[in-house]
Amino acid sequence: TQQTYIMLKPDALKRQLLGEIITRIEKKGYQIVQAKLMQLDAPIIAEHYAHLTDQPFYPKLERYMLSGPVFGMVLEGEDVIRGMRNMMGPTNVFEAAPGTIRGDYATDVTYNLIHGSDTPETAEAEIKRFFG
Ligand code: GTP
Ligand code: MG
Repeated sequence: TQQTYIMLKPDALKRQLLGEIITRIEKKGYQIVQAKLMQLDAPIIAEHYAHLTDQPFYPKLERYMLSGPVFGMVLEGEDVIRGMRNMMGPTNVFEAAPGTIRGDYATDVTYNLIHGSDTPETAEAEIKRFFG
């Protein structure tokens, strides 16, 4: 089996979609092996989004991620990294099909509800970053 780092972003909590999203994960059959509510700070956001700090939209992304608590989880399951990316839908919500989390609940590229690791290497680094 494989592990991934999933983070429900501040809009998911504000919109009270935590239960809805976790229900989908449970029904799919992935195991939640660690979970916690956290308020992120600017340095950890910059580390997590190091590939984006030079982008013109980064200040907006940082404000969004600072705007309230996030719910971080480690999930375990067969091919869970790819499986969760499929369930989330693409970053561009206009391309996210109905049936995906972003496709069903998000209308904006920034406020897209959920993060999921994209490779085994990033999954390992992100689990270490948020769960030690
Ligand atoms: P994460 O799972 O959060 O890492 O999203 P992702 O892997 O689908 O996308 P990526 O890592 O490329 O970008 C991280 C986050 O930055 C996205 O989830 C968006 O919130 C934001 N973002 C990415 N690209 C854009 C963009 O072109 N414009 C804006 N406004 N935000 C973006
Ligand atoms: Mg990403």
